[in-house]
Amino acid sequence: MPADFENKVALVTGATGGIGLHVAEKLANGGATVFINGRTKKNAQQALDRLRAISDKIDFCEGDCNSYADAQAIAVQASALNGGIDILVSAGAQGRVPPMPFADMTGAQLVEAFETRLFPKIFPVHASLPFLRKRGGAVVMVCTDAARHPTPGESIVGAAGAGVILLTKVLAKEFARWNIRVNSVALTLTSDTPSWERIFGAGDTFDAKLFGKIAERFPSGRPPSAEEVARVAAFLASEETSQVTGQTISVNGGLSFGGW
Ligand SMILES: NC(=O)c1ccc[n+]([C@@H]2O[C@H](COP(=O)([O-])OP(=O)(O)OC[C@H]3O[C@@H](n4cnc5c(N)ncnc54)[C@H](OP(=O)(O)O)[C@@H]3O)[C@@H](O)[C@H]2O)c1
Repeated sequence: MPADFENKVALVTGATGGIGLHVAEKLANGGATVFINGRTKKNAQQALDRLRAISDKIDFCEGDCNSYADAQAIAVQASALNGGIDILVSAGAQGRVPPMPFADMTGAQLVEAFETRLFPKIFPVHASLPFLRKRGGAVVMVCTDAARHPTPGESIVGAAGAGVILLTKVLAKEFARWNIRVNSVALTLTSDTPSWERIFGAGDTFDAKLFGKIAERFPSGRPPSAEEVARVAAFLASEETSQVTGQTISVNGGLSFGGW
């Protein structure tokens, strides 16, 4: 039984592919009006076709979540339908600096690695807040387990993720007065995603070696799929979790339980 998202307006950033698209699919299956976001229209058509086979209540908001102005325009577009947003899933962020040892990073890379992983996750939350406040709702952010478990090569990736996890807790407290819940899912490595393609499709890189080792250590014998991650994100967005807020759930088959 899909969760019931009837009469809900949902905005999913970073949803023209990967985990975001799977979340959008679940929300559409549950009856929500779903606005998907990505940086380019040309990448969106396939996702729109897939979602419109489920529902005709689907639209696209073009914009880069690294830009606060874009995040605002996206939120305004998604809320135009009936003045509010009920569900925000913030998944749109592609770090511009790949994982690498801290000692090898330049000063400029420290800044860019951090900014392009933290701000695209929280700009949409801030920009959507006036519309989430209208009726109350749920925010789900997508972040990384490198925030919880020290991973060599992911110092800044982890620091930005730790920012998302802390914000999840603080915003859950601040937004409770408006009946808005805030939760996150944390990931290590997920198959069927653009991230997977970038990591393993570029030859013998630092990234490929790091994640190749991690991939061999999943207690379940395999990394989770994007669909398995999306199930948890959609669950946190649903009324099934009406008393869950400020939490981050790792979706990694137990890999980070007890560290690695
Ligand atoms: N996959 C994993 O194993 C993993 C692990 C840890 C964390 N995460 C996090 O989980 C999220 C989803 O990852 P993913 O692997 O499914 O896919 P992804 O590489 O983030 O791409 C998913 C979609 O997001 C869009 N996108 C990327 N950057 C964006 C931005 N700045 N603003 C708006 N849209 C953007 C892309 O479309 P366009 O190119 O058209 O913009 C793409 O269709 C990401 O935030 C990632 O950091 C993933």
